[in-house]
Amino acid sequence: MGAEVSWEIQKARATELLLQKDAVLVAHYYTDARLQALAEATGGCVADSLEMARFGQQHAASTLIVAGVRFMGETAKILSPDKKVLMPTLEATCSLDMGCPVESFSAWCDRYPERVVVVYANTSAAVKARADWVVTSSIAVAVVEHLHDQGQALLWAPDQYLGRYVQSKTGADMLLWDGACIVHEEFKEQALRDMKQVYPEAAVLVHPESPAAVIDLADAVGSTSQLIKAAQVLPQQTLIVATDKAIFYKMQQAVPHKTLIEAPTAGVGATCRSCAHCPWMAMNQPDNLLQVLEFGGQEIHVDPQTGEKARISLERMLDFARQLR
Ligand code: 13P
Ligand code: SF4
Repeated sequence: MGAEVSWEIQKARATELLLQKDAVLVAHYYTDARLQALAEATGGCVADSLEMARFGQQHAASTLIVAGVRFMGETAKILSPDKKVLMPTLEATCSLDMGCPVESFSAWCDRYPERVVVVYANTSAAVKARADWVVTSSIAVAVVEHLHDQGQALLWAPDQYLGRYVQSKTGADMLLWDGACIVHEEFKEQALRDMKQVYPEAAVLVHPESPAAVIDLADAVGSTSQLIKAAQVLPQQTLIVATDKAIFYKMQQAVPHKTLIEAPTAGVGATCRSCAHCPWMAMNQPDNLLQVLEFGGQEIHVDPQTGEKARISLERMLDFARQLR
């Protein structure tokens, strides 16, 4: 009860400060439900990484507060270099970004000059600057299909699971970096099969950063936004969801009468480390959000030259997404 009261006070103050500072809150589905609710209530957005990028770029506010992980803040800054971009904490990174340092990535690209370089948005600005294309999970298949149709062979980084999924959907010639998301990598095939036996009427929704054996059991595979749409469209009333459990806040709003169940991250011989919740997304909290709103700090800076280069591949993605729509 005490915590609820203090959140009500914090929420009112945050709302006031957002207005005062000409700021808008752009939150990912994996962040704390209170931050998602605040973004909704104050004209911000709660979205997947593609929509966060688009929303931040198009919004008139002079300050973007990005609740998510660092690459999302950097993307916002690259696309809107004249805006101030703050995050509740700059410590929030991503295992995919960490597992793809620009030096070794560039050396890898140099070995295959004939291949088109496609990187997932979950990378640093410097890695994006070295790429021809940036994609998010919501348009990865469409972009790779387009490049494959043009006869292009690709380098793909950093998520090997998403890469393999895209390869299986498109048949493209892709060499894959060996990165992984520590959250999605933990979903377990056998435990999921066992769960399906318990809930034979349930549909399974899977984010494509998950292992192939888990994806093979899915009724729907897609980005966070696409999974929420699938939850609405599928006829099943029970849904087993293999992605970060913070998505349940928006998913349950979209399907209030359906039952949502977390896909298993533990099973025979397994230890649950992330337990279906990204430790870096979880660093975004009401306290540090208020701290930056009150006092500033935690500002994203991107080297302008790197940003200029990264912007080309990011804009290419946004243009492509616009054409798709
Ligand atoms: P989405 O683009 O699907 O929101 O994915 C971002 C992410 O980090 C998933 O782990
Ligand atoms: Fe990165 Fe995985 Fe966290 Fe998404 S859930 S931000 S891919 S570590």
